Formats: sequence, structure tokens, C-alpha cells
Amino acid sequence: MQTIFERLGEQNIKLLVDQFYDLVFSDPQISRLFKTDKALIKEKQRMFLTQFFGGPQLYSQQYGHPQLRARHLPHPISDDDAVAWLSCMSRALKDLPVEEALKDEIFKRLVPTAMFMVNRDEGNE
Ligand code: HEM
Repeated sequence: MQTIFERLGEQNIKLLVDQFYDLVFSDPQISRLFKTDKALIKEKQRMFLTQFFGGPQLYSQQYGHPQLRARHLPHPISDDDAVAWLSCMSRALKDLPVEEALKDEIFKRLVPTAMFMVNRDEGNE
């Protein structure tokens, strides 16, 4: 059984990340959270998704254990923010030149990870 990384290929991961952050940086709900260089976050996400999808551990080799939830704690993320993040991802996937079943599989893998990043209870703000 091939990994998502093998089925998607490096070129498509680049395309996906590129398109995704172009959407994120202009998204009315979550763009305000992104304060650093777009090229840098694209590169970090390319490395992270490569390993998340079963490819080489590029992110960990460079930055250490991902500890994604901890790394997101400085950024207040609500349920609505996670939904907006996933919506950008879904739109970025739409344009990708790969089969629909693979797009669905990728999206489904990302949903729990995105919801796990929620670290702010909107009711308590
Ligand atoms: C749920 C909604 C999410 C929001 C609002 C969000 C937001 C952010 C923000 C604001 C940053 C810092 C960017 C900067 O340096 O300016 C970041 C970093 C990052 N995010 Fe997310 N994120 C979300 C979900 C995810 C998910 C699901 C993943 C992985 C599948 C992910 C992977 C990353 C990675 C790898 C970094 C770079 C961490 C580092 O500094 O090394 N994020 N995210």
C-alpha cells in the first residue's frame, strides 16, 4: 500500500501548500493570525506535510519534534478558525491534479489534526 506522500508526489505537495497559504493569507477569518513570512510558513508546512503523509521526516530533521499543539498555543485558535483553515485546505485541494479519492483521504486526515489545534474557547473570551 503506497503512502499518501507517494501517491501525491513532491510537486503536488508544493502546489497544495502554495495554493493553501495564498488562500489563508487572504482569508477574512484567519489571515490576522499569520504574522511572519509567507515563504517561511509555506516551507515549514511543505516539510511537515511531507512527513505527515508518510514521506521523509523533513520537518523533524530541521526543527525537532513537531509538537504541533504546543507550537500553536501562542496563536489563539477557535473552532471557527479551525473550520476556516479546513475550508482553505478544501479549496486548495480542489485545484490539485489528482484523483478525487486521494483528495478526500487527505482532507479526512487533516480534520482531526485541525480540530486538535483549537486552544481557545470562544465562550470565555
Ligand atoms: C486549526 C487551524 C490552524 C490555525 C489557525 C493555524 C495557525 C498557525 C499559525 C498562526 C502559525 C504560525 C505562523 C507564523 O509563524 O506566522 C502556524 C504554524 C504552523 N502550523 Fe498551523 N494552524 C492551524 C492548523 C494546523 C494544522 C492542522 C497543521 C498540520 C497539519 C498545522 C501546521 C503548522 C506548522 C507545521 C506550522 C509551523 C510551526 C513552526 O513554527 O515550526 N497547522 N499555524
